[in-house]
Amino acid sequence: MKELAHQEHAAHRILGLVPTMGALHEGHLSLIKRARQDCTSVAASIFVNPKQFGPAEDFAKYPRAQQTDTEKLAALGIQCVFIPEPAEMYPQDYSTYVNVDGISERLEGRTRPGHFRGVSTVVLKLLQIVQPQFAYFGRKDAQQAAIISRMAHDLNLDAEIVVCPIVREADGLAMSSRNVYLNPADRQAATVLHRALQAVQNELHKGTRDALQLQFAMRRVLEQEPRAKIDYAEIVDARTFEPVTHVARSSYALLAAKFGETRLLDNLLIEFNPGNTNEPRIEL
Ligand code: PAF
Repeated sequence: MKELAHQEHAAHRILGLVPTMGALHEGHLSLIKRARQDCTSVAASIFVNPKQFGPAEDFAKYPRAQQTDTEKLAALGIQCVFIPEPAEMYPQDYSTYVNVDGISERLEGRTRPGHFRGVSTVVLKLLQIVQPQFAYFGRKDAQQAAIISRMAHDLNLDAEIVVCPIVREADGLAMSSRNVYLNPADRQAATVLHRALQAVQNELHKGTRDALQLQFAMRRVLEQEPRAKIDYAEIVDARTFEPVTHVARSSYALLAAKFGETRLLDNLLIEFNPGNTNEPRIEL
């Protein structure tokens, strides 16, 4: 991979990287399509990173679909698929980790201790190996994207981190490789996440900026769905992921809930043009 990356750089190609854990869905493919627009050469990596799974999490049963994944990637005409072995990424004597302090301990980090340390470490390794000018991540994992952007900034990495919109099923459920775990009843129930975020969107359109009121709006919808076990439903600053009391700068409405054994995330991004706190731009 490093040799190939050197060749691409020597040929003055603009190299983009799309890191994935495989089981590719339309969300991943949208990242590839975006990378193809921006770059002259695109690499995707497929690596189910053991370091980002807790001992009681789904590493062993995480969906693996290498054959169909590579077919999907080939159909999009990308230049390279990098599929390292765990022992290559983490040999026996492996001992270096990256942690983005503060933000990594909140929300997802509270429920999944060590998760973001594993994510930051593997993403830094992938960026070191591929040395892309651009690297692409989905906004569904908003906290992950913010942590990676912060790491790239703090460590003066050359790669520009590009965060791409959420891709949704027709009924609003955000695409995720873990959606395949849902039984039909939970799959139906999981649409409540999107409806809860739509409730926030409606409140924002009505002019509500008080974070507690926005949170209530989400929870009111979520609590109508008995199959949803809410982990958090919060309004946070889009950069620090600290709770806000009043929405006046870029913020996220963030949701995490379990349906059966499957934990799903979703979010809504609220952005303001500088100097105009009246009309937020809302991205669902
Ligand atoms: O979002 C994912 O699929 C993973 O967390 C990533 C960024 C590929 C790192 O393993």
